[in-house]
Amino acid sequence: MNSKRTTPFHITGVDSLGQGVSKMTEKVTFIAKTTLGDEGEAEIMSEKKGVAFARLKKLNKSSDLRVEPDCKHYSSCPSCHYLHVNYSDELKFKRENFAKLFRKLPLKNFEVIGAPRRSGYRNRIQLHYSLKSKLIGMRDPQNFTIHPIPNCLLGLPEVLKEIQRLYENNQWMIEAPPAPIEGHVEIYWNNNKLQTSWNKPYSEGGFSQVYEEMNKKLKDILMEEFKKNSISGILDLFGGAGNLSSGLNYKNRLCVDIYQNLKGEDFLSLNLYEENSLGKVMKEIKNRPFTLTHLILDPPRSGLKDLALWLQQLRPKYVAYVSCDPHTMARDLEKLEGYSIQRSLLFDFFPSTFHFESLIFLERKE
Ligand SMILES: C[S@@+](CC[C@H](N)C(=O)[O-])C[C@H]1O[C@@H](n2cnc3c(N)ncnc32)[C@H](O)[C@@H]1O
Repeated sequence: MNSKRTTPFHITGVDSLGQGVSKMTEKVTFIAKTTLGDEGEAEIMSEKKGVAFARLKKLNKSSDLRVEPDCKHYSSCPSCHYLHVNYSDELKFKRENFAKLFRKLPLKNFEVIGAPRRSGYRNRIQLHYSLKSKLIGMRDPQNFTIHPIPNCLLGLPEVLKEIQRLYENNQWMIEAPPAPIEGHVEIYWNNNKLQTSWNKPYSEGGFSQVYEEMNKKLKDILMEEFKKNSISGILDLFGGAGNLSSGLNYKNRLCVDIYQNLKGEDFLSLNLYEENSLGKVMKEIKNRPFTLTHLILDPPRSGLKDLALWLQQLRPKYVAYVSCDPHTMARDLEKLEGYSIQRSLLFDFFPSTFHFESLIFLERKE
């Protein structure tokens, strides 16, 4: 049997993935589901020069922050990262990581908008399955192992009920298509309707935020800020179905996204990462009765690394940058010239996990 090497640990920090960090040995060791003050033994899963990634094996001393997780799958499931501490500590760690990630930016201060519920919020959940190994559940992004989660707590009640139905007597094996032998299923509760879709390349109905109350909070703050100055024209980049701009009081809008198949002159389907996309957007705006005053951008994880160039060419007075990846957001904002940061917020759209959304408002200096 392949027995893994173990290492002693003492957690003195928590990283942006919610993992405890130990500097007790010559290698800095990252251990998921540990927290400040924990001491014990961990199994090394992988290592490189100076760094090791390990799994909690034994706790000799438990942190004062530790609580019993509500979810019975927590110790093995790769999807949640903070259920071993209470919600106020989870928010504290996220706040610290936000400050660390944006330390090179001139943020005067930032606000943290917590979630009304830590579980029971997701309107969609994706499970991975393998007909070969007869497993369905959450897939570990590191080693692709599937962890069954019949009693997951993250979804809305309707989503969780459907997950339980699929697990009951291995019902999923009857409903999954015979090929491919490995795939995924998405369970989506939308407009009082349940959709269970097998192996669709994109989310059912295109992108939408999974936590509806948090989406409303974000849109309310966007409206509060953008209401301060009248909106002549608004550009909603990576706009999907126009979620973020839809409630705003604008005269003209252009919403750009790659996948949206919405028809209407407000919408333009374009790959915003293709070489000449900025030129195409500029041309589109020129051909419209459009003075661009406000820009919203909400890119996927990869961000918009040429943001400085986009702003230089488009010259919107006001910008709202929404991001689900604070690393790429910080990268994009560090290079900006001619804009100042007005307000910064962390929205906890994904409680129990290390993910969150950030919103940063910018204003052109002249
Ligand atoms: C984080 S979502 C935001 C969507 C929208 N703002 C909302 O709140 O619903 C990112 C969006 O980027 C779009 N997208 C992904 N890759 C893209 C690309 N290469 N060009 C344009 N849009 C892209 C996706 O279709 C998705 O709608």
